[in-house]
Amino acid sequence: MSIISVKSLKNDPEVKIYLQRADKHLEGIGYTEHGLRHAAITAKFCERVLRSLDYSSDPIRLAGVAGFLHDIGNVCGRVYHSQTGAIIAHSLLSEMGMTSAEIVGIMEAIGNHEEDIGQPTSEISAALILADKSDVHRSRVRTPRFISFDIHDRVNYAAEKSDLQISKEKRSISLLITINTEISQVMEYFEIFLSRMIICRKAAKVLSCEFELIINGNKLL
Ligand SMILES: [Fe+2]
Ligand SMILES: [Fe+2]
Repeated sequence: MSIISVKSLKNDPEVKIYLQRADKHLEGIGYTEHGLRHAAITAKFCERVLRSLDYSSDPIRLAGVAGFLHDIGNVCGRVYHSQTGAIIAHSLLSEMGMTSAEIVGIMEAIGNHEEDIGQPTSEISAALILADKSDVHRSRVRTPRFISFDIHDRVNYAAEKSDLQISKEKRSISLLITINTEISQVMEYFEIFLSRMIICRKAAKVLSCEFELIINGNKLL
């Protein structure tokens, strides 16, 4: 059995094909970027969440793997992409030689990463939700000329910086976002992201932390 990490996935041509095709499908239906860039950033944030809370190397590595593969199911269509993604991750990872004991944790995390149907119940799943929902950024908008029509594009385009800060001592996980209010009002962020913030709060609780949302220096949650 092999030790699979984010590095193994980045070097795997098959994973690349799936993620690129999934992103191409989302481009076709007008969604923001969900490809290799989003995969790498989510993986990095997943690892950072658990590392900052002093988890051991295995859950950190597995959270990174879940983060890299979490949106791969979009290749089968957006609806239920978390469920199809879990199944695709299973087949890719077992082919790469990962043990079933590790694969099940990744399947659970990927299958539960979306706020409409997901429920975080493990540390890997919680880290994935917090990492995924933190990637709000201008660079994910594919066609900036549409920002006046599409609220998701506008809010993402207005987000000039986003970061997660984790304090083991205070048991807090803070999402810090800088929004250019000339492009989008903070209210618009809430309009589309309130349900995401609710699942982030649940995810932080699984890690015995409180979730905070700080926009332009103001603590809003
Ligand atoms: Fe997703
Ligand atoms: Fe995602």
